[in-house]
Amino acid sequence: MAGKGFTVKKNWDNPKEHAMPAEARVPAEVRLGTVLVTPATILAPMAGVTDTVFRRFIRHASLFTTPTTEAAHPPNPGPEPCQGTTSVVPKMQQNEERALAPGLIDAAVTNAQSGCGLLMTEFTSADGLARMRESKRQRYLTFYDDEHPIGAQLFGANPETLAEAARIVEETGFDLVDLNLGCPAKRVVGSNGGSGLLRDLPRIQEIFKAVRKAVTIPFTVKFRMGWNDADIVCIELARMAEAEGLNAVALHARTREQGYSGQARWEWIARVKQAVKIPVIGNGDIQTPESAVAMVAETGCDAVMIGRAAPANPWIFRQIAQYTATGSYERPTAEDRYRMIRAYFQMLLDEAEATKDLPRAARMGETAGKMKQFATWFTHGVAGGAKLRAAIYQARTGAEVLSQVDAFFAAQLASGTEPVATPEDVAAGEFPANLLVCD
Ligand SMILES: Cc1cc2nc3c(=O)[nH]c(=O)nc-3n(C[C@H](O)[C@H](O)[C@H](O)COP(=O)(O)O)c2cc1C
Repeated sequence: MAGKGFTVKKNWDNPKEHAMPAEARVPAEVRLGTVLVTPATILAPMAGVTDTVFRRFIRHASLFTTPTTEAAHPPNPGPEPCQGTTSVVPKMQQNEERALAPGLIDAAVTNAQSGCGLLMTEFTSADGLARMRESKRQRYLTFYDDEHPIGAQLFGANPETLAEAARIVEETGFDLVDLNLGCPAKRVVGSNGGSGLLRDLPRIQEIFKAVRKAVTIPFTVKFRMGWNDADIVCIELARMAEAEGLNAVALHARTREQGYSGQARWEWIARVKQAVKIPVIGNGDIQTPESAVAMVAETGCDAVMIGRAAPANPWIFRQIAQYTATGSYERPTAEDRYRMIRAYFQMLLDEAEATKDLPRAARMGETAGKMKQFATWFTHGVAGGAKLRAAIYQARTGAEVLSQVDAFFAAQLASGTEPVATPEDVAAGEFPANLLVCD
């Protein structure tokens, strides 16, 4: 059962009423083997970003928006001064907290509201997993019940080790296992993992066979187009995946050498789609609901996967669902943003308290780092965001980050108008280049 007040149906929850022409709709569902993903929107795996807190935050994103009814959200009492990390939850979040407590969530409802059909973990080393003690594995493979459906992504180069790691993923209760063939990071490519494997298709085939044999859960693969323009392998690779019994392929439409430069070349997603019958997941440069719809229209892909846009705009999945159904979508207000960032910080602190594998000081240090990182992304394109980011950069503790955030939103909410973002606010919020480590 959902927590009382959270079952409000929106007109765009009904996939039958669509404003978009059929060929442009982000599909209402896609079946990846036995896993039904509905709607067909997927949170991309992102190392350092898509941990359990971030994933649950995305899944329940619509719980943090402006009240649609009094019952759904209590009136906002306004920002409170920062009291340090023990009192970060403003009164307005008491209901959200209740809704996030295990057992009170109706996954189907919140899922429909947030519009993200499938969550993916950060990539995890197969070698590491296979070697680790059970207790340590938990740190890498932690997820909560309300994250279903969820896929775990592995990287590695050895077929047996990957098969063993995939078995562990299955035993842990994940709904699917995904293989990373896109990561351009030197330490991963150096050991032939990630996109390094794109130059060794026979090895990839061995891995496909070994993992397929090892697990019964759906098995998918995410890759780039190839190592470089002279060596584009995505079509061959997708055909091989299909022949070896994989349940879907996801293409980030760039080469390894391209890194994140230039535009993703969606025409390659279209070519892959024409080459195979298994579902094709399109990825690369979706920044808005309009671009998600454009990718489907241009490529015919079966689902869209979204990476960098999610931390900057956690509502993007819900906006896609709205846009597809009605032709327009709601934009977050300053109040929504404030509600959301405070809720996310509280989730981080709760998780740091609940996870006992590191000394408390280390956990709190990690949490402060995440708060800083998230506040930076989250104010991308927000008026005054550039100044806030500069202030946050100096902060040393979670409490300091929080007081900067409080002061920022207090000023915004007090002004009563939505200030306009300057070009600096937009530019300074670009995804930091040093974080573009893996894919
Ligand atoms: C910080 C960061 C970490 C990433 N880590 C992973 C990863 O662990 N596995 C993976 O397959 N891709 C990873 N990626 C790539 C994304 O999944 C995605 O393919 C890429 O960002 C393109 O999609 P986008 O334009 O929607 O961001 C990462 C990207 C970023 C920005």
